[in-house]
Amino acid sequence: MRNVARSTSSSPELSFDARVHPSALVDGLRPFYSTPLGAAYLGDSRQMLAALPDGSVNLAFTSPPYALHFKKEYGNVHKDDYVEWFLTFARAIHRSLADDGSFVLNIGGSYNKGLPTRSTYHLKTLIALVEEVGFHLAQETFWYNPAKMPMPAEWVTVRRIRVKDAVEYVWWLSKTPWPKANNRRVLKPYSADMIRLNRRGVRATVRPSGHNITSAFDKIDAGGSIPGNVIEDQLADDFHRFGNNAANDQYSKRCKDAGLSIHPARFPASLPEFFIKLLTDEHDVVVDPFGGSNTTGMVAEGLRRRWLVADNVESYLETSKFRFDDVTV
Ligand SMILES: C[S@@+](CC[C@H](N)C(=O)[O-])C[C@H]1O[C@@H](n2cnc3c(N)ncnc32)[C@H](O)[C@@H]1O
Repeated sequence: MRNVARSTSSSPELSFDARVHPSALVDGLRPFYSTPLGAAYLGDSRQMLAALPDGSVNLAFTSPPYALHFKKEYGNVHKDDYVEWFLTFARAIHRSLADDGSFVLNIGGSYNKGLPTRSTYHLKTLIALVEEVGFHLAQETFWYNPAKMPMPAEWVTVRRIRVKDAVEYVWWLSKTPWPKANNRRVLKPYSADMIRLNRRGVRATVRPSGHNITSAFDKIDAGGSIPGNVIEDQLADDFHRFGNNAANDQYSKRCKDAGLSIHPARFPASLPEFFIKLLTDEHDVVVDPFGGSNTTGMVAEGLRRRWLVADNVESYLETSKFRFDDVTV
C-alpha cells in the first residue's frame, strides 16, 4: 500500500485524510481535468483503479456499458464475454473499497437476439460479483425510468407481445455485510395520508398480515418517510437543483450551444445523489470508473464529497467540463 496521509477518525485504517485531493490517491496518472474536490482521467479505467491504494474508496457508483446486441457509439462487450470482462474492473473496485464501503452498480437488462426472451447476463454478473469476487448483496434496488423507449419494437409496439421496460437494476453491493449507510439522509416528504395519520395518532391494531401496529406509531414524525427501493424522482428538490437529463439542463444546453454531441447514455443526477447521500459522508471518496458525462462527479462535488472518474472517450470528458461551470476546472 502506498504512503497516503490518513485521518484519525474512528476507523483510521480505512479512511484517508479528508484534506488530501483525491488525485493524490492515483499515483503516476495525470488527470484530464480536476476541480476543487475531484479529478477526471482519460483512458481505460482499469489503470486508475489499479493505482488506487487498498481501502481508499468509500463508494464506487457506476453504470458500465451494458451487453446489448446493438452497438452503442462507445461500444459494448458481447454477452458471452461480459462477466469475465466486468470482473476485471470489479476485482480492482473490491480491493480499493474501505471495509465499510459500497459498490453500487446500475445495469440494464436486455433481450436475446431475435427472440422475445430476456438474457440473463446481468443476473450472471451479479452472481459472479458475489460468488467469485466476494461482494455482499446489501440490497437490490431499481431505477424507475418511465422514459425508456418501447424496445425491442418488434415485440413491444409491432407484435404487442411484451410490455415496455420501465426499470433498470441498481445493485447495492458491499465489501462486508456492514457497509456504512444512513437512510435518514434520503427521507422523502410524507404523503398527505401520513401527515393526517401523524396528526390524528394511530390506534393499536393488528394488520391482516399479522404485523402489530402499536400506538407508539403515533410518534412517527421523523422528518420524512423512509424511501422504498425503487429509486425515482424521490428527492425532487435536489434533483432539480443538480439538473437532470432534460434537454434544458446546463450540460445539454452548453453542448448544444457549442454544437457538440450530448452523451447518449447518461443517468439522472437523482440516481447518484440518492446513493451518495445514503452511503457516504462529506469528504468521502466516490469513484465512477465509467464516468461518461461525469454526472457522478458533478453530484459528488455538489454534496462536498471527493470524487475520481474515468472514461476512455475524450469527447465525453471534454464536454463533461460543462458540468463544472461554477467551479474552477
Ligand atoms: C453508460 S455510460 C456512463 C454514463 C454516465 N453514467 C453518465 O451519466 O454520463 C458508460 C461509459 O463507459 C465508458 N467506458 C467503456 N469502457 C471503458 C473503459 N474500459 N474505461 C473507461 N471508460 C469506459 C464509455 O465511454 C461510456 O461513456
